[in-house]
Amino acid sequence: MSFESLPYTLRWVEDILYVIDQTKLPEQFIEVPLRNIDDVYVAIKTLQVRGAPAIGVAGAYGLCICAQKYLNDSPNMFMQNLGNDAKYLNSARPTAVNLSWAIKRVMKRLYGCVQFTTEQMYGEILDEATKIHQEDLITCRQIGEHGRDLIQEGFGILTHCNAGSLATSRLGTATAPMYLAQEQKKRFKVYADETRPLCQGSKLTAWELQRAGIDVTLICDDMAASVMASGRIQLVIVGADRVAANGDTANKIGTLGVAIMAKHFGIPFYVAIPTSTLDIQSACGHDIEIEQRGKDEVCFFGEKRTAPVDIQVLNPAFDVTPSYLVTGFITEKGIVKPPYEKNLKAILK
Ligand code: MRU
Repeated sequence: MSFESLPYTLRWVEDILYVIDQTKLPEQFIEVPLRNIDDVYVAIKTLQVRGAPAIGVAGAYGLCICAQKYLNDSPNMFMQNLGNDAKYLNSARPTAVNLSWAIKRVMKRLYGCVQFTTEQMYGEILDEATKIHQEDLITCRQIGEHGRDLIQEGFGILTHCNAGSLATSRLGTATAPMYLAQEQKKRFKVYADETRPLCQGSKLTAWELQRAGIDVTLICDDMAASVMASGRIQLVIVGADRVAANGDTANKIGTLGVAIMAKHFGIPFYVAIPTSTLDIQSACGHDIEIEQRGKDEVCFFGEKRTAPVDIQVLNPAFDVTPSYLVTGFITEKGIVKPPYEKNLKAILK
């Protein structure tokens, strides 16, 4: 078994976007067709499709889906309507920069087509969305190639949330080094944090790594410190939703705690990202908007209520890990080490 046995997270077939409904895993494997703007918006908002690169690809194809209903409009109206739809799709989730990055990229391509017919414009934006999708496939593989040597024979690796195949077009970011180390027949173990409140670690990471034949053990988030203390972990790899110019990293809530623990135990803490997750417009973590989600995600475990009615709840979906806790960023262009202010900017050139 290998990552070859994993399904594709997103598929564009005959002008419809199909995504694996990640809210149904691991009990049910269902692909849902997204046929209009509300399907796409709701799929991103409710986490049917999630993970920074995957929502970028979904946003890009989402614009193509929106454009289909404007083909009989004038070219001017086509652009104007699509501009409004772009704003709406972009508002589905604020923290992962890949969504706005992909939407901006498609719109930029459109704005270069002023003399075109609407059919030609549609062809152009579909081409851009397809490129974003294809590039993500390649980028994940390159992240894996740069990161796999960090994994040594016999290592225990901790990961948080799901920065796996399900969060991208194929190999994942944090998981790409693992899949490629597996290809090299290295023996290693992965410990997947459950990742409360929505359990992306247990529902998604555990599912995909197990399906790919990787030796994976699920732990509750509050077990990570003792698992590190026991000497089982030699490496941490996580993904990110947005990395500021100074290397401060927004990722799934709980990542900050993992980074602090890794520092305490002297375990290298790596963040695996495509460079599209870098946002040099944000100088530091304070500039990153953190998505706040509804209280039911915290008050229920699945269908079961686990908190009193009317309890006050905080539910930030992400936290920011300061860059001094990050050992390095594994990107498609290589591993970036401190000083991040200088070296992250350099890698974008
Ligand atoms: O809320 P989610 O499930 O979209 O959060 C996802 C994460 O935090 C991932 O670690 C991040 O998007 C990187 S995915 C390669």
